[in-house]
Amino acid sequence: MKRNSYVCVECGYIAGMHMGKCPSCDNYNTFEIIKNSRDQNKAEEAADRPVRIDDISNNLHAVIPTGIEEFDRVFGGGLTPCSIILLVGDPGIGKSSLVLKIAQVLQDSGNKVLYITGEESLNQIKLRWERIINDYTNPIDVMAETNIDSILENMSGSDYSLVIIDSIQTMYSSNIFSTMGSINQVKYTGMRILQFIKSQKMMSSDPCFILIGHVTKEGITAGPKALEHLVDVVVYLEGDKQTEYRLLKAQKNRYGPTTEIGIFEMKQDGLNPVPNPSQIFLDKHSGNYIGTVITPSLQGQRVIFAEIQSLFVEVNYPNPRRIAKGIKPLRLNMIIAILEKRCSLSFYNKEIYVNIASGLVIEDTVIDMAIASSLISNFYDVSIEQDTVFFGELSLNGEIKKSQYAERRVNECIRLGYKRIFCPWNDAIAVDAKKVPDCRIIGIKRIEELMKRLLMDENKSGKI
Ligand code: TYD
Ligand code: MG
Repeated sequence: MKRNSYVCVECGYIAGMHMGKCPSCDNYNTFEIIKNSRDQNKAEEAADRPVRIDDISNNLHAVIPTGIEEFDRVFGGGLTPCSIILLVGDPGIGKSSLVLKIAQVLQDSGNKVLYITGEESLNQIKLRWERIINDYTNPIDVMAETNIDSILENMSGSDYSLVIIDSIQTMYSSNIFSTMGSINQVKYTGMRILQFIKSQKMMSSDPCFILIGHVTKEGITAGPKALEHLVDVVVYLEGDKQTEYRLLKAQKNRYGPTTEIGIFEMKQDGLNPVPNPSQIFLDKHSGNYIGTVITPSLQGQRVIFAEIQSLFVEVNYPNPRRIAKGIKPLRLNMIIAILEKRCSLSFYNKEIYVNIASGLVIEDTVIDMAIASSLISNFYDVSIEQDTVFFGELSLNGEIKKSQYAERRVNECIRLGYKRIFCPWNDAIAVDAKKVPDCRIIGIKRIEELMKRLLMDENKSGKI
Protein backbone atom coordinates (compact mmCIF):
# COMPACT_ATOMS: atom_id res chain seq x y z
CA MET A 1 0.00 0.00 0.00
CA LYS A 2 1.30 3.43 -0.89
CA ARG A 3 1.61 5.71 2.17
CA ASN A 4 2.35 9.36 2.29
CA SER A 5 4.80 10.99 4.67
CA TYR A 6 4.61 14.51 6.05
CA VAL A 7 7.43 16.86 6.96
CA CYS A 8 7.47 19.82 9.34
CA VAL A 9 8.71 22.72 7.24
CA GLU A 10 10.20 24.42 10.32
CA CYS A 11 12.36 21.70 11.82
CA GLY A 12 12.37 18.82 9.33
CA TYR A 13 10.51 16.33 11.61
CA ILE A 14 9.01 13.54 9.49
CA ALA A 15 5.71 11.89 10.43
CA GLY A 16 3.65 9.10 8.90
CA MET A 17 0.44 11.14 9.20
CA HIS A 18 -0.60 14.76 9.08
CA MET A 19 -0.36 16.56 12.43
CA GLY A 20 -1.69 19.90 13.61
CA LYS A 21 1.20 20.54 16.02
CA CYS A 22 4.76 19.43 15.46
CA PRO A 23 5.93 17.24 18.40
CA SER A 24 9.53 18.31 17.78
CA CYS A 25 9.40 22.13 17.48
CA ASP A 26 5.86 22.74 18.85
CA ASN A 27 4.83 24.90 15.86
CA TYR A 28 1.27 24.66 14.50
CA ASN A 29 0.17 23.91 10.91
CA THR A 30 3.68 23.34 9.66
CA PHE A 31 3.25 19.88 8.07
CA GLU A 32 3.48 19.43 4.30
CA ILE A 33 3.03 16.23 2.35
CA ILE A 34 6.21 14.69 0.92
CA LYS A 35 5.55 13.57 -2.63
CA ASN A 36 6.29 9.88 -2.87
CA SER A 37 9.27 9.75 -5.17
CA ARG A 38 10.38 6.30 -4.03
CA ASP A 39 8.84 4.46 -6.97
CA GLN A 40 10.45 6.79 -9.45
CA ASN A 41 13.83 6.44 -7.70
CA LYS A 42 13.50 2.66 -7.79
CA ALA A 43 12.98 2.78 -11.55
CA GLU A 44 16.07 4.97 -11.92
CA GLU A 45 18.16 2.70 -9.71
CA ALA A 46 17.13 -0.37 -11.70
CA ALA A 47 18.80 1.11 -14.75
CA ASP A 48 22.15 1.00 -12.93
CA ARG A 49 23.48 -2.54 -12.83
CA PRO A 50 26.17 -3.82 -10.50
CA VAL A 51 29.65 -3.75 -12.01
CA ARG A 52 32.79 -5.67 -11.17
CA ILE A 53 35.03 -3.45 -9.07
CA ASP A 54 38.07 -4.04 -11.32
CA ASP A 55 36.05 -2.92 -14.38
CA ILE A 56 35.71 0.59 -13.00
CA SER A 57 37.96 2.96 -14.90
CA ASN A 58 40.45 4.99 -12.88
CA ASN A 59 39.42 8.35 -14.20
CA LEU A 60 40.09 10.13 -10.94
CA HIS A 61 40.20 13.89 -11.02
CA ALA A 62 43.56 15.43 -10.28
CA VAL A 63 43.45 17.79 -7.34
CA ILE A 64 43.98 21.46 -8.04
CA PRO A 65 46.58 22.85 -5.65
CA THR A 66 46.01 26.44 -4.59
CA GLY A 67 49.68 26.93 -3.81
CA ILE A 68 48.78 28.17 -0.29
CA GLU A 69 50.44 25.36 1.64
CA GLU A 70 48.53 25.90 4.89
CA PHE A 71 45.29 25.44 2.93
CA ASP A 72 46.37 22.59 0.63
CA ARG A 73 47.75 20.58 3.56
CA VAL A 74 44.27 20.38 5.16
CA PHE A 75 42.63 19.30 1.89
CA GLY A 76 45.09 16.55 1.01
CA GLY A 77 46.99 18.55 -1.62
CA GLY A 78 44.34 20.89 -3.01
CA LEU A 79 40.73 21.08 -4.17
CA THR A 80 39.23 18.00 -5.79
CA PRO A 81 37.01 18.65 -8.85
CA CYS A 82 33.39 17.49 -8.50
CA SER A 83 33.58 17.64 -4.73
CA ILE A 84 31.60 19.61 -2.14
CA ILE A 85 33.40 21.26 0.75
CA LEU A 86 31.56 22.61 3.75
CA LEU A 87 33.50 25.38 5.50
CA VAL A 88 32.04 26.30 8.87
CA GLY A 89 32.97 28.73 11.62
CA ASP A 90 31.69 31.51 13.86
CA PRO A 91 30.39 34.65 12.18
CA GLY A 92 33.26 37.12 11.69
CA ILE A 93 36.01 34.51 12.10
CA GLY A 94 37.26 35.05 8.53
CA LYS A 95 35.54 32.50 6.27
CA SER A 96 34.68 34.96 3.50
CA SER A 97 38.15 36.50 3.66
CA LEU A 98 39.80 33.08 3.37
CA VAL A 99 37.73 31.85 0.43
CA LEU A 100 38.12 35.14 -1.42
CA LYS A 101 41.88 34.73 -1.27
CA ILE A 102 41.65 31.10 -2.42
CA ALA A 103 39.31 32.18 -5.23
CA GLN A 104 41.73 34.75 -6.58
CA VAL A 105 44.76 32.45 -6.30
CA LEU A 106 42.94 29.78 -8.34
CA GLN A 107 41.74 32.33 -10.88
CA ASP A 108 45.33 33.56 -11.26
CA SER A 109 46.49 30.00 -11.98
CA GLY A 110 44.08 29.69 -14.93
CA ASN A 111 40.96 28.24 -13.25
CA LYS A 112 37.66 30.10 -13.49
CA VAL A 113 36.02 30.96 -10.18
CA LEU A 114 32.50 32.11 -9.34
CA TYR A 115 31.76 33.67 -5.92
CA ILE A 116 28.05 33.71 -5.07
CA THR A 117 27.03 35.87 -2.16
CA GLY A 118 23.69 35.69 -0.44
CA GLU A 119 24.75 37.73 2.58
CA GLU A 120 26.43 40.79 1.25
CA SER A 121 25.85 43.18 -1.64
CA LEU A 122 28.16 43.17 -4.66
CA ASN A 123 29.54 46.49 -3.41
CA GLN A 124 30.53 44.97 -0.08
CA ILE A 125 32.24 42.07 -1.85
CA LYS A 126 34.12 44.49 -4.05
CA LEU A 127 35.28 46.50 -1.02
CA ARG A 128 36.62 43.33 0.61
CA TRP A 129 38.22 42.23 -2.66
CA GLU A 130 39.95 45.64 -2.97
CA ARG A 131 41.18 45.42 0.64
CA ILE A 132 42.47 41.84 0.29
CA ILE A 133 43.43 41.41 -3.37
CA ASN A 134 43.30 44.72 -5.26
CA ASP A 135 44.83 43.34 -8.43
CA TYR A 136 42.79 43.99 -11.57
CA THR A 137 44.75 41.69 -13.91
CA ASN A 138 42.56 38.62 -13.66
CA PRO A 139 39.44 39.27 -11.55
CA ILE A 140 36.98 36.57 -10.45
CA ASP A 141 33.22 36.51 -11.28
CA VAL A 142 30.76 37.38 -8.54
CA MET A 143 27.00 37.03 -8.28
CA ALA A 144 24.55 38.21 -5.60
CA GLU A 145 21.72 35.66 -5.59
CA THR A 146 19.91 33.51 -3.05
CA ASN A 147 17.67 31.31 -5.21
CA ILE A 148 19.57 28.03 -5.60
CA ASP A 149 17.42 26.84 -8.51
CA SER A 150 18.13 29.90 -10.62
CA ILE A 151 21.82 29.87 -9.59
CA LEU A 152 22.28 26.33 -10.91
CA GLU A 153 20.23 27.11 -14.03
CA ASN A 154 22.37 30.17 -14.77
CA MET A 155 25.51 28.10 -14.44
CA SER A 156 24.57 25.72 -17.24
CA GLY A 157 27.22 25.63 -19.94
CA SER A 158 29.72 27.60 -17.86
CA ASP A 159 33.24 26.39 -17.18
CA TYR A 160 33.93 27.24 -13.55
CA SER A 161 36.44 25.15 -11.64
CA LEU A 162 35.42 26.54 -8.26
CA VAL A 163 32.01 27.81 -7.16
CA ILE A 164 31.74 29.42 -3.72
CA ILE A 165 28.37 29.79 -2.01
CA ASP A 166 28.49 32.29 0.85
CA SER A 167 26.53 31.21 2.79
CA ILE A 168 24.44 28.04 2.68
CA GLN A 169 22.04 29.55 5.25
CA THR A 170 21.05 32.31 2.82
CA MET A 171 20.07 29.98 -0.04
CA TYR A 172 16.43 29.10 -0.64
CA SER A 173 14.18 27.42 -3.15
CA SER A 174 10.53 28.15 -3.78
CA ASN A 175 10.01 24.37 -4.12
CA ILE A 176 10.40 24.09 -0.35
CA PHE A 177 7.85 25.71 1.92
CA SER A 178 10.01 26.85 4.77
CA THR A 179 11.97 29.91 5.77
CA MET A 180 15.46 30.74 4.52
CA GLY A 181 18.12 29.14 6.71
CA SER A 182 15.79 26.38 7.96
CA ILE A 183 17.04 22.80 7.97
CA ASN A 184 14.83 21.90 5.02
CA GLN A 185 16.12 24.72 2.84
CA VAL A 186 19.74 23.91 3.73
CA LYS A 187 19.19 20.20 3.00
CA TYR A 188 17.48 20.97 -0.29
CA THR A 189 20.33 23.26 -1.38
CA GLY A 190 22.84 20.54 -0.55
CA MET A 191 20.84 17.92 -2.48
CA ARG A 192 20.44 20.18 -5.52
CA ILE A 193 24.18 20.83 -5.68
CA LEU A 194 24.92 17.12 -5.30
CA GLN A 195 22.51 16.27 -8.14
CA PHE A 196 24.02 19.04 -10.23
CA ILE A 197 27.52 17.65 -9.76
CA LYS A 198 26.37 14.10 -10.46
CA SER A 199 24.58 15.04 -13.66
CA GLN A 200 27.53 17.12 -14.90
CA LYS A 201 25.62 17.62 -18.11
CA MET A 202 25.16 21.29 -17.69
CA MET A 203 28.78 22.29 -17.39
CA SER A 204 31.84 21.85 -19.51
CA SER A 205 34.05 21.67 -16.39
CA ASP A 206 34.02 19.66 -13.16
CA PRO A 207 33.50 22.32 -10.52
CA CYS A 208 34.37 22.03 -6.86
CA PHE A 209 31.82 23.72 -4.58
CA ILE A 210 32.76 25.44 -1.33
CA LEU A 211 29.68 25.99 0.84
CA ILE A 212 30.12 28.36 3.75
CA GLY A 213 28.11 27.73 6.91
CA HIS A 214 27.82 29.65 10.16
CA VAL A 215 27.93 28.00 13.53
CA THR A 216 25.92 29.35 16.43
CA LYS A 217 27.57 30.74 19.55
CA GLU A 218 27.24 27.39 21.31
CA GLY A 219 29.25 25.75 18.55
CA ILE A 220 26.30 24.00 16.92
CA THR A 221 26.35 24.09 13.14
CA ALA A 222 22.51 24.06 13.14
CA GLY A 223 21.43 23.83 9.48
CA PRO A 224 24.87 23.02 8.02
CA LYS A 225 25.16 20.04 10.40
CA ALA A 226 22.45 18.38 8.33
CA LEU A 227 24.82 18.46 5.34
CA GLU A 228 27.81 16.80 6.97
CA HIS A 229 26.97 13.33 5.68
CA LEU A 230 26.30 14.59 2.18
CA VAL A 231 29.43 16.66 1.51
CA ASP A 232 32.92 15.26 0.85
CA VAL A 233 34.91 17.49 3.16
CA VAL A 234 33.93 19.34 6.35
CA VAL A 235 36.41 21.92 7.61
CA TYR A 236 36.22 24.20 10.61
CA LEU A 237 37.82 27.62 10.84
CA GLU A 238 38.42 28.28 14.53
CA GLY A 239 40.19 30.74 16.76
CA ASP A 240 39.84 33.27 19.51
CA LYS A 241 38.56 36.50 17.96
CA GLN A 242 40.64 38.48 20.47
CA THR A 243 43.79 37.10 18.84
CA GLU A 244 44.79 37.14 15.20
CA TYR A 245 45.45 33.40 14.75
CA ARG A 246 42.97 31.04 13.08
CA LEU A 247 43.15 27.25 12.73
CA LEU A 248 41.71 25.38 9.76
CA LYS A 249 40.86 21.79 10.72
CA ALA A 250 39.25 19.04 8.65
CA GLN A 251 36.63 17.08 10.53
CA LYS A 252 35.77 14.80 7.63
CA ASN A 253 37.70 14.33 4.40
CA ARG A 254 36.99 11.80 1.66
CA TYR A 255 40.17 12.79 -0.19
CA GLY A 256 42.80 13.13 2.49
CA PRO A 257 43.68 12.85 6.15
CA THR A 258 41.86 14.71 8.93
CA THR A 259 44.99 15.02 11.01
CA GLU A 260 46.43 18.09 9.34
CA ILE A 261 45.74 21.68 10.33
CA GLY A 262 46.42 24.99 8.63
CA ILE A 263 47.38 28.07 10.64
CA PHE A 264 46.50 31.57 9.44
CA GLU A 265 46.89 35.07 10.75
CA MET A 266 44.20 37.75 10.36
CA LYS A 267 45.74 40.93 8.97
CA GLN A 268 44.38 44.02 7.26
CA ASP A 269 44.85 42.23 3.92
CA GLY A 270 42.88 39.13 4.99
CA LEU A 271 43.94 35.74 6.29
CA ASN A 272 47.59 35.01 5.62
CA PRO A 273 49.28 31.64 6.18
CA VAL A 274 51.75 31.33 9.07
CA PRO A 275 54.60 29.18 7.78
CA ASN A 276 56.54 28.63 11.04
CA PRO A 277 53.91 28.43 13.75
CA SER A 278 55.54 26.35 16.54
CA GLN A 279 55.85 29.15 19.06
CA ILE A 280 53.25 31.70 18.00
CA PHE A 281 50.92 30.88 20.89
CA LEU A 282 53.52 31.53 23.60
CA ASP A 283 53.35 34.81 25.52
CA LYS A 284 56.53 36.86 25.42
CA HIS A 285 57.70 37.06 29.05
CA SER A 286 60.28 39.17 30.70
CA GLY A 287 60.88 36.51 33.38
CA ASN A 288 59.69 33.25 34.92
CA TYR A 289 56.24 33.15 36.49
CA ILE A 290 54.71 30.87 39.09
CA GLY A 291 52.36 28.38 37.45
CA THR A 292 53.50 29.13 33.89
CA VAL A 293 54.64 25.98 32.08
CA ILE A 294 55.39 25.22 28.42
CA THR A 295 54.41 21.99 26.66
CA PRO A 296 54.95 20.66 23.10
CA SER A 297 51.35 19.80 22.18
CA LEU A 298 50.31 18.21 18.94
CA GLN A 299 47.81 19.98 16.67
CA GLY A 300 47.21 17.73 13.69
CA GLN A 301 50.66 16.42 12.80
CA ARG A 302 52.39 19.54 14.03
CA VAL A 303 54.15 20.33 17.28
CA ILE A 304 52.73 23.57 18.64
CA PHE A 305 54.10 24.90 21.91
CA ALA A 306 51.39 25.85 24.36
CA GLU A 307 51.70 27.87 27.51
CA ILE A 308 49.75 26.68 30.54
CA GLN A 309 49.04 29.22 33.23
CA SER A 310 47.44 28.49 36.59
CA LEU A 311 46.37 30.59 39.53
CA PHE A 312 45.18 29.64 43.03
CA VAL A 313 42.92 31.77 45.21
CA GLU A 314 42.47 30.73 48.84
CA VAL A 315 38.81 30.59 49.87
CA ASN A 316 36.97 29.54 53.02
CA TYR A 317 33.86 28.00 51.54
CA PRO A 318 33.29 24.38 50.44
CA ASN A 319 33.57 23.14 46.84
CA PRO A 320 35.73 25.94 45.45
CA ARG A 321 35.52 26.57 41.72
CA ARG A 322 37.82 24.98 39.11
CA ILE A 323 37.85 27.07 35.93
CA ALA A 324 39.54 25.75 32.78
CA LYS A 325 39.99 27.60 29.49
CA GLY A 326 41.54 25.78 26.54
CA ILE A 327 41.34 22.33 28.18
CA LYS A 328 38.36 20.24 29.26
CA PRO A 329 37.28 20.96 32.88
CA LEU A 330 37.02 17.20 33.43
CA ARG A 331 40.71 16.79 32.61
CA LEU A 332 41.65 19.47 35.14
CA ASN A 333 39.52 17.82 37.83
CA MET A 334 41.15 14.49 37.10
CA ILE A 335 44.68 15.89 37.44
CA ILE A 336 43.72 17.63 40.70
CA ALA A 337 42.34 14.32 42.03
CA ILE A 338 45.56 12.47 41.06
CA LEU A 339 47.71 15.10 42.81
CA GLU A 340 45.53 14.94 45.93
CA LYS A 341 45.57 11.15 46.09
CA ARG A 342 49.12 10.31 44.96
CA CYS A 343 51.08 13.36 46.16
CA SER A 344 48.95 14.21 49.22
CA LEU A 345 48.46 17.83 48.12
CA SER A 346 45.19 19.31 49.26
CA PHE A 347 43.26 21.79 47.19
CA TYR A 348 40.03 21.81 49.23
CA ASN A 349 40.39 25.52 50.10
CA LYS A 350 41.70 26.72 46.73
CA GLU A 351 39.87 28.14 43.77
CA ILE A 352 41.88 26.99 40.73
CA TYR A 353 42.08 28.75 37.36
CA VAL A 354 43.89 27.12 34.43
CA ASN A 355 44.29 28.89 31.11
CA ILE A 356 46.02 28.07 27.82
CA ALA A 357 47.54 31.30 26.51
CA SER A 358 46.45 32.95 23.24
CA GLY A 359 43.10 31.19 22.99
CA LEU A 360 44.59 27.84 21.96
CA VAL A 361 42.34 24.82 22.57
CA ILE A 362 44.15 21.56 23.34
CA GLU A 363 42.71 18.07 23.15
CA ASP A 364 46.10 16.35 23.29
CA THR A 365 46.14 14.44 26.61
CA VAL A 366 49.92 14.53 26.63
CA ILE A 367 49.72 17.97 28.26
CA ASP A 368 48.73 16.34 31.61
CA MET A 369 52.25 16.45 33.03
CA ALA A 370 52.54 20.16 32.17
CA ILE A 371 49.24 20.93 33.93
CA ALA A 372 50.33 18.92 36.97
CA SER A 373 53.68 20.77 37.03
CA SER A 374 51.89 24.10 36.78
CA LEU A 375 49.72 23.17 39.78
CA ILE A 376 52.74 21.93 41.78
CA SER A 377 54.58 25.18 40.95
CA ASN A 378 51.61 27.16 42.26
CA PHE A 379 51.21 24.97 45.33
CA TYR A 380 54.82 25.47 46.44
CA ASP A 381 55.05 29.06 45.13
CA VAL A 382 58.09 28.43 42.94
CA SER A 383 58.49 29.39 39.31
CA ILE A 384 59.55 27.10 36.46
CA GLU A 385 62.36 28.15 34.11
CA GLN A 386 61.18 29.18 30.65
CA ASP A 387 63.65 26.85 28.93
CA THR A 388 61.96 23.78 30.47
CA VAL A 389 59.16 21.80 28.80
CA PHE A 390 56.90 18.99 30.04
CA PHE A 391 54.88 16.35 28.25
CA GLY A 392 53.28 13.03 29.21
CA GLU A 393 49.80 11.68 29.89
CA LEU A 394 48.84 10.80 33.47
CA SER A 395 47.17 7.58 34.45
CA LEU A 396 44.75 7.53 37.39
CA ASN A 397 47.19 5.25 39.22
CA GLY A 398 49.83 7.98 39.05
CA GLU A 399 51.93 6.51 36.23
CA ILE A 400 53.11 8.62 33.31
CA LYS A 401 52.21 6.89 30.06
CA LYS A 402 54.28 6.54 26.91
CA SER A 403 53.40 9.31 24.43
CA GLN A 404 52.51 9.37 20.79
CA TYR A 405 55.06 11.07 18.54
CA ALA A 406 57.53 11.52 21.43
CA GLU A 407 60.51 11.75 19.11
CA ARG A 408 58.86 14.45 17.00
CA ARG A 409 58.11 16.51 20.12
CA VAL A 410 61.62 16.09 21.53
CA ASN A 411 63.26 17.02 18.20
CA GLU A 412 61.18 20.19 17.98
CA CYS A 413 62.11 21.12 21.58
CA ILE A 414 65.78 20.62 20.78
CA ARG A 415 65.51 22.57 17.52
CA LEU A 416 64.01 25.53 19.36
CA GLY A 417 66.69 25.50 22.06
CA TYR A 418 64.83 24.20 25.13
CA LYS A 419 67.30 23.03 27.78
CA ARG A 420 65.30 20.55 29.87
CA ILE A 421 62.62 18.15 28.70
CA PHE A 422 60.52 16.31 31.31
CA CYS A 423 58.84 13.34 29.59
CA PRO A 424 57.67 9.76 30.33
CA TRP A 425 60.64 7.52 31.17
CA ASN A 426 60.01 5.10 28.29
CA ASP A 427 59.90 8.03 25.86
CA ALA A 428 63.25 9.21 27.23
CA ILE A 429 64.66 5.73 26.56
CA ALA A 430 63.16 5.61 23.05
CA VAL A 431 64.65 8.92 21.98
CA ASP A 432 68.39 9.08 22.12
CA ALA A 433 68.90 11.11 25.28
CA LYS A 434 72.55 11.72 24.61
CA LYS A 435 72.18 13.23 21.17
CA VAL A 436 72.29 16.89 22.23
CA PRO A 437 74.83 17.72 24.91
CA ASP A 438 73.24 20.95 26.14
CA CYS A 439 69.69 19.59 26.51
CA ARG A 440 68.72 17.28 29.39
CA ILE A 441 65.98 14.75 28.74
CA ILE A 442 64.52 13.76 32.11
CA GLY A 443 62.44 10.55 32.07
CA ILE A 444 59.72 10.38 34.75
CA LYS A 445 57.88 7.20 35.81
CA ARG A 446 55.31 8.45 38.30
CA ILE A 447 53.66 11.68 39.42
CA GLU A 448 55.29 11.42 42.90
CA GLU A 449 58.67 11.29 41.18
CA LEU A 450 57.80 14.39 39.11
CA MET A 451 56.99 16.34 42.25
CA LYS A 452 60.14 15.15 44.06
CA ARG A 453 62.23 16.01 41.05
CA LEU A 454 60.77 19.50 40.71
CA LEU A 455 61.28 20.29 44.37
CA MET A 456 64.78 18.79 44.35
CA ASP A 457 65.73 21.08 41.43
CA GLU A 458 64.17 23.97 43.27
CA ASN A 459 66.43 23.34 46.27
CA LYS A 460 69.47 23.51 44.03
CA SER A 461 68.71 26.65 42.04
CA GLY A 462 65.90 28.51 43.83
CA LYS A 463 63.69 27.85 40.79
CA ILE A 464 62.22 24.76 39.24
P1 TYD B 1 34.87 37.66 7.33
O1 TYD B 1 35.70 36.94 6.33
O2 TYD B 1 33.84 38.61 6.83
O3 TYD B 1 34.22 36.65 8.37
P2 TYD B 1 33.06 35.57 8.14
O4 TYD B 1 32.86 35.43 6.67
O5 TYD B 1 33.59 34.32 8.80
O6 TYD B 1 31.85 36.08 8.84
O7 TYD B 1 35.92 38.42 8.25
C1 TYD B 1 35.56 39.44 9.05
C2 TYD B 1 36.78 39.81 9.83
O8 TYD B 1 37.69 40.55 9.02
C3 TYD B 1 36.44 40.70 10.97
O9 TYD B 1 36.17 39.97 12.13
C4 TYD B 1 37.66 41.56 11.12
C5 TYD B 1 38.39 41.44 9.81
N1 TYD B 1 38.52 42.76 9.14
C6 TYD B 1 39.75 43.37 9.11
O10 TYD B 1 40.73 42.84 9.64
N2 TYD B 1 39.86 44.57 8.49
C7 TYD B 1 38.81 45.24 7.93
O11 TYD B 1 38.96 46.35 7.37
C8 TYD B 1 37.52 44.58 7.98
C9 TYD B 1 36.31 45.22 7.36
C10 TYD B 1 37.44 43.36 8.58
MG1 MG C 1 31.17 36.02 5.57
